[in-house]
Amino acid sequence: MKKRFYITTPIYYPSAKLHIGHAYCTVLTDIFARYKRLRGFECYFLTGADEHGQKIEKNAALAGKTPQEFVDGIVEGFYKLWDLLKISNNDFIRTTQTRHTEVVQKIFSKMLEQGDIYLSKYKGWYCTPCESFWTDTQVGPDHICPDCGRPVQVAEEEAYFFKTQNYVDSLMKFYDENPKFLTPESRKNEMINTFIKPGLDDLCVSRTSFSWGIPILENPKHVIYVWLDALTNYITALGYGSGNESLFKKFWEDDETEIIHILGADITRFHAIYWPMFLESLGLRKPDREFVHGLLMMKDSKMSKSKGNVVDPFPLVEKYGVDALRYYLAREVTFGQDGSFTPELFVERINMDLANSLGNLLNRTVSMINKYFGGEIPQYLGKKTAFDGELESLIDLSIKRYESFMDDLKITEGITAVMDIVARANKYIDETTPWALAKDEDKKEELASVMNHLARAIFVSGMLLKPVLVNASDLLFAQLGINLEKVSYDDIFNPSFLDRKVVNKGEQLFPRLDNEVEIAYIASLMNGNK
Ligand code: MSP
Repeated sequence: MKKRFYITTPIYYPSAKLHIGHAYCTVLTDIFARYKRLRGFECYFLTGADEHGQKIEKNAALAGKTPQEFVDGIVEGFYKLWDLLKISNNDFIRTTQTRHTEVVQKIFSKMLEQGDIYLSKYKGWYCTPCESFWTDTQVGPDHICPDCGRPVQVAEEEAYFFKTQNYVDSLMKFYDENPKFLTPESRKNEMINTFIKPGLDDLCVSRTSFSWGIPILENPKHVIYVWLDALTNYITALGYGSGNESLFKKFWEDDETEIIHILGADITRFHAIYWPMFLESLGLRKPDREFVHGLLMMKDSKMSKSKGNVVDPFPLVEKYGVDALRYYLAREVTFGQDGSFTPELFVERINMDLANSLGNLLNRTVSMINKYFGGEIPQYLGKKTAFDGELESLIDLSIKRYESFMDDLKITEGITAVMDIVARANKYIDETTPWALAKDEDKKEELASVMNHLARAIFVSGMLLKPVLVNASDLLFAQLGINLEKVSYDDIFNPSFLDRKVVNKGEQLFPRLDNEVEIAYIASLMNGNK
């Protein structure tokens, strides 16, 4: 295993406010970054905003603002959202910052000089009233402008292109030599069969039909067109080409850093095909892993403003707390597959897992330790009841499963492994019947052992869920009498860690939600009524 990590989310378009789908990607990446740090690894986590392009130029004009004023306003909202969701990013790159724009210009010049970029003509569908080019998919079979609905015509404009043919063979070799580069595996086959085998077109990297972009120094009527500008954020944020390359050396060039990009399925092609090519053209190392997650849908359809099913994360967090939303996103939507957000699933998941299983286990245990042992967690005495051994083995096995799932970015499976401990511990209460043991003086040792084992099961679960439950894990530790400054991951392996700690009964971590009331409330948020 490498000794440090560089992990990134895509940089989001500030063309409109972010919704829960964007929050999904950032939260899951944050969980991974926090997990790695919890395990003692250094992890540099980057997110940001992709601020150029025609859509932003248009939306700004509609809002009566300059593009810069427009993106400044929206990016303020990004900062607030990431703050609210307790995102632990180390940096936030904006593609309008000079640390980015100046380096992108240098990158373009280098590629041009090397012959990887050439000047030619871009042919596409053009909407004259909107002054916009569209692709085949965007105009659909009826050749209609997706913005204004009027017919489009074929038109040409001068543009620069990146010569993909220079790099196709080495990309295929790279895929062969690095089977873990792109996951899920099916994505690689899709790249090869859908895009590479039929013959890859050269990539258009400049435009003259709008001006909100980074101008090309050699030909300033052109601006650099989205993907060359966007993808290079991953290296400009580390100071590549800036004169101060210490972060770049450490988190990109050093072989001891594992570089991981997390991205949604809709942008796989750009990350998995063009990005490695750009890096090769610059003579730079390629990322170790690209993990493609699925899309978060609303019931069966994609989120869209017109369908009135866009979920704004702000009111959700305000009402249910950051941990509930983080948990839902990570647990309900298997990382790597498509998933959905519905009010029913949200309320059910929070009630079932957090209120009933975890919350109840903590409540019952703390109450029993108060009642039977005056609030002091009894010492670990080895295996005293017929069920202790089984619970201990399940805890050990679940920790191993959790670590191997999480290391492999199988975050949902990692959480499920933790919830197995919680479920087993609840069952252990029914098996050992502490209320019956308490009635028999001869069973005092067994009762003590049960309390110790329960406390440990809760502690281990709280520690493993720490990357997800950024507030509740600490509250849970406090209820078990753990000094937050004196606890570390390795304590989960020590069965005596909780000996003689004094529990504090606190508030319910996750109060049970009233199904009907809360489902109706969330539905009203989605319909834009709140
Ligand atoms: N700016 C580009 C990315 C450049 S990265 C060098 C972009 N921006 S985006 O804002 O449109 O989308 C950013 C990410 O958010 C994508 O990975 C996309 O998959 C993700 N999501 C957008 N909607 C989503 C859902 N409904 N569900 C899950 N992820 C979603 O593309």
